[in-house]
Amino acid sequence: MGHITFIEHNGNQHPVDIEVGKSLMKLAIENAVPGIDADCGGQCACGTCHVIIDDNWFSNAGNITEEETLILDMTPEKADTSRLSCQISTTEAMDGMLVRLPEFQM
Ligand code: FES
Repeated sequence: MGHITFIEHNGNQHPVDIEVGKSLMKLAIENAVPGIDADCGGQCACGTCHVIIDDNWFSNAGNITEEETLILDMTPEKADTSRLSCQISTTEAMDGMLVRLPEFQM
């Protein structure tokens, strides 16, 4: 089983096991990763599940919908590799992926 590592703004790391098909947001919440509020429950409506994917892993995170782009555009600390973690379905190809948590959500 692979793992994905969440990195807090202060550098604290949280490796979590991949559960294929589960959203990155759900993995974070179920593993008590701080900084993911997910106020809308994964409906792509709140932006409080914002994460910044490491540059080298961005293409592994899947496609971004227009709906997700609209929410990201309203999100503080948006970066070139920003994603909403509720819109990413995890796969084994994400083994080793690094995901940073924005300072704003801490
Ligand atoms: Fe609300 Fe992801 S949980 S946008």
